[in-house]
Amino acid sequence: MTQAIQTSAIVGVIGAGAMGAGIAQVAALAGHTVLLYDLDAKALDKARSGIAANVQRLIEKKKLDESAGQRAIDRVRIITSLADMRTASLVVEAIAERLDVKRALFSELEGIVSSECILATNTSSISITAIAAPMKYPSRVVGMHFFNPAPLMVLVEVVRGLATSDAVARAVYDTSAAWGKKPVHAKSTPGFIVNRVARPFYAEGLRLLNEQGADAASIDIVMRDSGGFRMGPFELMDLIGHDVNFAVTQSVFNAYFNDPRFTPSLIQQELVNAGFLGRKTGRGFYDYAADAEKPAARIETNMRTPSKIVLGQRVPLYEALQARIAEVGNSRNEMPGLIAQIDDAYLFLTDGRTATERAHALGIDNIVLVDLALDYANARSVALTRARQCTVDAYAAAAGALTQAAYAVVPLNDIAGMAVMRTVAMLVNEAADAVNQGVCTSADLDLAMEKGVNYPLGPLAWGERLGIERIHDVLIHLAAHYGEDRYRASPLIPALRYSGQRFH
Ligand code: NAI
Repeated sequence: MTQAIQTSAIVGVIGAGAMGAGIAQVAALAGHTVLLYDLDAKALDKARSGIAANVQRLIEKKKLDESAGQRAIDRVRIITSLADMRTASLVVEAIAERLDVKRALFSELEGIVSSECILATNTSSISITAIAAPMKYPSRVVGMHFFNPAPLMVLVEVVRGLATSDAVARAVYDTSAAWGKKPVHAKSTPGFIVNRVARPFYAEGLRLLNEQGADAASIDIVMRDSGGFRMGPFELMDLIGHDVNFAVTQSVFNAYFNDPRFTPSLIQQELVNAGFLGRKTGRGFYDYAADAEKPAARIETNMRTPSKIVLGQRVPLYEALQARIAEVGNSRNEMPGLIAQIDDAYLFLTDGRTATERAHALGIDNIVLVDLALDYANARSVALTRARQCTVDAYAAAAGALTQAAYAVVPLNDIAGMAVMRTVAMLVNEAADAVNQGVCTSADLDLAMEKGVNYPLGPLAWGERLGIERIHDVLIHLAAHYGEDRYRASPLIPALRYSGQRFH
């Protein structure tokens, strides 16, 4: 039985900024009377006209009939005194992101609303436990974390502090579902689910750039065309704004007592120092001036047509090569892990070691590594790197074969784990650690990453598809390569690997 609050119940929204206006719209469209409050009258005006315009657009797109739309608009009541919140059954707070300000507001609210009223906060970084601590009834305080823009993004993280009651968390979960959202349960820990697990997406891109593995445009194209992400890390950080993205990274890093896993990037700090905050200031990693030329990704031109391609093991890229290249023979090279021998070059999938280290370990100079793709059959680009020992000519044959297979080959310098593989391995690792620490279930974790940041696949499902063993090996190799605690594997990964169990 659902514990969602009834449609006839009144919902209060405090803070009429970007998030509060969106949340008010969602609640009104779900049938609630909404009391919207803000200290700033201009914010209230803007929210009211913004909601009306959004609903009008839904009517024009025929997603809503006109009278239903008008009734939803009329259900949003602007209030100018907090005392008018007394009839609310659920209040969602979306004011300034400061603990003292939120505590003061909730304490004042406690004196106004009934003892059954649920007090929800849309905070993205403050402990729910800490917000609730000074309250008379801390069990009714819960996180209700929407994503921006709230009317469009379906994820809601329902976050429990230490004192939050089961019934309150359940009521907010069911209410979110009744509002057409996809809620997940999370324990109040820094970054909750999405803002924690997504960190490596930005961090590994920034590391790669810092180590001169490639330029931003090349990494972006690999993450998009090969990794299957909607945007590359640099274009996405430019969209989010470096001030915001850097502040989230810093806050998660500080909150985890400087765990090196979350170390912020000096490159991003410099962008913030410069005021190059991304699209909103016209410049971030990219220049958004009207006359600026968008830098193109580097596509390999050093290539030649190979005279002989011998396929190796039945790995995913093998299938794609076989389908895409007509003149692959029937002979086979059974070297463990080999994708193909292309003239003198030996092509392998990256396993977290550099090509240079693998060449040394195998005693074969001409080692070329390819990066992970979400789906080689449909990928448009693949990244390639070569060992320092590998001859330019041997590499050119491998690049030629992949170009013949209709991939745009993006050259990377020989960085351990390349771009997609190390990013995905670290996303799986962070996801596993969150589950291992009881932040959420595996199912909620994957749902959160698919709906909150549009990943093509939940990280845990992705890890299972690749094999936990492969992910573990990549992490072990990265940790050995860098000698940094940052790349340590979550204890859940070896536990699953050696027991044969799965996340899901
Ligand atoms: P915003 O700056 O657009 O809006 C905040 C509004 O709260 C302003 O209109 C301000 O006048 C009002 N306000 C501040 N203190 C107040 C108080 N004591 N009483 C009443 N009104 C007050 O901020 P935004 O982006 O809407 O964020 C609000 C909350 O949502 C923050 O806690 C933020 O961390 C969280 N959040 C923000 C997301 C985003 O992408 N912007 C995403 C998810 C959560």
